Amino acid sequence: MKSYIHLSYFCVLLAKINIITAQKYDCGYCQPEQVHIAFGSKSNDIVVTWTTFNDTHESRVQYGAGALDEEASGGRSRFVDGGRLRRSMWIHRVTLADLRYDTKYVYHAGSVYGWSEKFSFKTPPRGDQWLVRAAIYGDMGNKNAHSLSYLQDEAERGHFDVILHVGDFAYDMDTDNALVGDEFMRQIQPLAALVPYMTCPGNHEAAYNFSNYRSRFSMPGPYESMFYSFDLGPVHFVSISTEYYYFLEFGLKMLSTQFQWLDRDLREANKPENRARHPWIILYGHRPMYCSNSDDIDCSVEYTRKGLPLFGAFSLEPLLQQYGVDVVIWAHEHSYERTWPLYDSKVYNGSVDQPYRNPGAPVHIVTGSAGCQEETNKFKPAPAEWSAFRNSDYGYTRFLAPNHTHIYFEQVDVEKGGEVIDSVWVVKDAHRPYNI
Ligand SMILES: *[C@@H]1O[C@H](CO)[C@@H](O)[C@H](O)[C@H]1NC(C)=O
Ligand SMILES: *[C@@H]1O[C@H](CO)[C@@H](O)[C@H](O)[C@H]1NC(C)=O
Ligand SMILES: *[C@@H]1O[C@H](CO)[C@@H](O)[C@H](O)[C@H]1NC(C)=O
Ligand SMILES: *[C@@H]1O[C@H](CO)[C@@H](O)[C@H](O)[C@H]1NC(C)=O
Ligand SMILES: [Fe+2]
Repeated sequence: MKSYIHLSYFCVLLAKINIITAQKYDCGYCQPEQVHIAFGSKSNDIVVTWTTFNDTHESRVQYGAGALDEEASGGRSRFVDGGRLRRSMWIHRVTLADLRYDTKYVYHAGSVYGWSEKFSFKTPPRGDQWLVRAAIYGDMGNKNAHSLSYLQDEAERGHFDVILHVGDFAYDMDTDNALVGDEFMRQIQPLAALVPYMTCPGNHEAAYNFSNYRSRFSMPGPYESMFYSFDLGPVHFVSISTEYYYFLEFGLKMLSTQFQWLDRDLREANKPENRARHPWIILYGHRPMYCSNSDDIDCSVEYTRKGLPLFGAFSLEPLLQQYGVDVVIWAHEHSYERTWPLYDSKVYNGSVDQPYRNPGAPVHIVTGSAGCQEETNKFKPAPAEWSAFRNSDYGYTRFLAPNHTHIYFEQVDVEKGGEVIDSVWVVKDAHRPYNI
């Protein structure tokens, strides 16, 4: 009897060894890196994206509320950079669907050939009656990323439900055969693996038809992350590519597709039943409709606002009026500027005492001073009457949306050790198209 048990144990052992040797380890560069997350098609779907340099033949995320006891798998695609070396890598995407609301999850991502370190994130609460907290900024590079340590610190302390990076990454992701892109994605991992990192393309992403941007990020919807919208608490966020207006060499088709999509999306968001749940419509894109910087031609070229030259096709400002968009956020200028409520270069203050209470037009915020090698931009000496506050220090914007009537923005100045240098409450008793 005794020897029989030993024998069978020996057989099991042999079988195990067989299984292990059958699975040949043949993957040289398969350690996951550049891990980041984003919201999927709803706020309790989280998409995990990461990179390996060789094909792992599987893309898995092990996760759970507390322990790694669940698993999801997804796909991967080979990304070939357009540079001389045609460097290639595998971009893996796994959706963690139907997560529990308001729950802290842990996860690691990878394959049998290697797991990332363990990260965690918290899903947002259900519905619209909760305080949304965001960090918002554009124009952050590998070099001179002044705000990054502040952002990482706040992200790790759980201060943000979402981060919006409003275009211009790395400077540039394709530089040096996309090694700069790899390094940037590693630099943001401490934030972007913990908090949904939502993006839009900027001019620095244009190389090879935005291929690094489209391949490395995974935003909701079918348009290769170039434009999309998502709901979070009381806010409907809309992200667009302003760059379609400036890089016409890649074709007019996507510009027209985006315009039609945006019209539909805003019309849908403005329907009474939708606006009752997500009354705040906040749109973001890279190049501003209004700015008063001194050294940038883009403050006088207004393609997104007025449409393409000659015919004014695809002009966006009328959509903001027609669908009652509350706030629009831009970057590109490496500075911070807030406007009074503004339409067609005219100010529509709510009242003399309370310009942002029931304002008569959208409010614009330009926040592109996170920090990059191009440093900051100065302002024209005498701003137009629509300019309410301007500052050229490095920093980023914090955003709060507590409820249906109130939202809040403040500007953090990292050159002053994180001091808040500007703040504004926008208050609305009702959300509807502007009467202009
Ligand atoms: C594996 O990755 C290395 C490093 O990026 C690369 O040089 C090599 O070509 C890759 N091999 C395959 C088969 O993809
Ligand atoms: C650029 O990419 C878009 C898809 O985002 C595609 O529709 C378009 O044809 C591409 N343009 C060129 C010139 O390759
Ligand atoms: C808008 O309100 C601000 C603050 O009260 C004021 O300084 C500015 O002059 C107003 N603009 C117009 C056009 O009424
Ligand atoms: C909305 O939030 C603001 C700021 O926190 C607060 O003053 C206001 O009372 C809240 N309104 C409701 C209806 O909860
Ligand atoms: Fe830019």
